[in-house]
Amino acid sequence: MDAPNQEFVLAGSLEELKAKGRLVVHGRHRPILVIYDRGRVFALDNRCPHMGFPLERGSVEDGILTCHWHHARFDLESGCTFDLWADDVPICPVEVRNGDAWVKTTFDHADPTAHWRSRLADGLAHDLGLVIAKAVHGQLTDEVPQADIVRQVALFGAQNRDGWGVGLTILTALANLLPVLPEEEAYLALFHGARRVAADCDGEVPRRERAPLGSRPEPAALKRWLRRWTNVRHREAAERTLLTAIAADLSPAVLADALLAAETERAFADTGHSLDFINKAFECLDLIGWEHAPAVLPTVVGQMVAARGAEESTAWRQPIDLVALCEEAVSQLPDLLAASRRVDGWSDHAALARELLGDDPARIVDLLKAAIRAGAAPADLGRSLAYAAALRVARFGNANEHADWETAHHVFTYANAVHQMLERIGIANTDSHAVRAVLHGAMALYLARYLNVPPARIPGEGGEQLDDLPADAETIRAALLDAFDRQRQVDLAARLVARHLTLGHPPQALIATLARAVLREDAGFHAYQMLEAGVRQFTAWGDTDEGRHILIAVARYLAAHSPTERAALQTADIARRLMRGGELHQEAEV
Ligand code: FES
Repeated sequence: MDAPNQEFVLAGSLEELKAKGRLVVHGRHRPILVIYDRGRVFALDNRCPHMGFPLERGSVEDGILTCHWHHARFDLESGCTFDLWADDVPICPVEVRNGDAWVKTTFDHADPTAHWRSRLADGLAHDLGLVIAKAVHGQLTDEVPQADIVRQVALFGAQNRDGWGVGLTILTALANLLPVLPEEEAYLALFHGARRVAADCDGEVPRRERAPLGSRPEPAALKRWLRRWTNVRHREAAERTLLTAIAADLSPAVLADALLAAETERAFADTGHSLDFINKAFECLDLIGWEHAPAVLPTVVGQMVAARGAEESTAWRQPIDLVALCEEAVSQLPDLLAASRRVDGWSDHAALARELLGDDPARIVDLLKAAIRAGAAPADLGRSLAYAAALRVARFGNANEHADWETAHHVFTYANAVHQMLERIGIANTDSHAVRAVLHGAMALYLARYLNVPPARIPGEGGEQLDDLPADAETIRAALLDAFDRQRQVDLAARLVARHLTLGHPPQALIATLARAVLREDAGFHAYQMLEAGVRQFTAWGDTDEGRHILIAVARYLAAHSPTERAALQTADIARRLMRGGELHQEAEV
């Protein structure tokens, strides 16, 4: 007998189906389960959407199909699940013709993009890792631009949590890396970013809308007000001021200057996280479009006004009052910056960075002032500071406590954020308030000097060839991943990175390997920050000695925090195989 049309295949006779209750249709398509229940015929994907267990081994009662592996339950007619963690079962059309059951072998959605977008919204709303992974995979397969997925997740995160958080920071950091990631890693990056945003919003109070002021004050007044409201921790006032600045169409550079000036009313606030979050919100808008500034940018204000500044801590006040040291320098900055703008061509970034690692804070401040006098722009100072902070990590002594890695990490990611913000603001828009960020970063760097006592040796220095290591690029990268598979391989990871770069192998492939090392783990928040800040700084320095030191710092930090359980990778892998039509359970049994 001919099929009703080309897409249908014969499942079996209705008589046989009635007798057996169920049949499985195999072919080039996914296995299809055909079920007879109380006078009706249904057809579903035979692979449980949770982890692929054959649903033919499940049971049907009262129109409910139950998978016998983890007991997820599904509405037989629609495939919709009663257990959200399991996801819905795709169904396909079935027809009974002349006593035979025919099934359509495709599970296409009328509008796949809309379908996967809706599924991603569901996954985010209910914090369902598997649903998120499938929805991200589905959108990528449907060639939805990566930026569209980032935008959907970012806006969900901005609306469903009362303030910027770790999830949005991870999402933005990973989205920044997408251009250098291979396809597989891009899927993992988007999945991790989305799942961390979902987890961040789970159980949180959604954000409440605020409105800009009805007037249009001068930008200088808005900037003053933002500092004033930050000082007195008046969140509502600060948000309305910022919204007014956005509504006035002030440029991202001017907005960045205003926020950096307000943020630095407190020194190294919340161990640098507050400033890093502000920078990430700006980067997020670069990725998803500045038309979303009213929804995204005010999310950083709550933490900014509430953050605890380092000026409240003993270490910043005794035995040397570092805050007073910074304040005195700030009072001189307007004149210094005015003079500096008449000089160009400053390029002593690396030399200044090495000086910043000294142990005399007054001299460090003097060196920064001297650099400004010599023509260094604020962004130049930020770049030197970031490299110096990377050297702290690269030379982090193995005798330190494990938790000390985070001290070194905080300074580095803060310094990177300062550098990025000052680059964005540009010399024309930067005033002395924003430059406080460099002084605060330099003092945080000074206070972390004990982490390099004694300093770890940086491999590959002075022409060291590291000839005991492999020379082939792929073998080095495989060895690096292998090192990350084991605990306490900090020095080996550093040596492999040095070997790769000193032999002139392409750094892009090495960066992709470092990304792979992070994306396969259940990485902590700081690992994502470290990777992205390291890649940013490497991009600024290029394949130079300094660039090598920066990637060594990244590798050392990552090696100190690997391996983990890799549960998220397993979820992503299950989703990918289900989406590609694999029969997971049979594969597992083989
Ligand atoms: S409930 Fe079906 S595989 Fe888990």
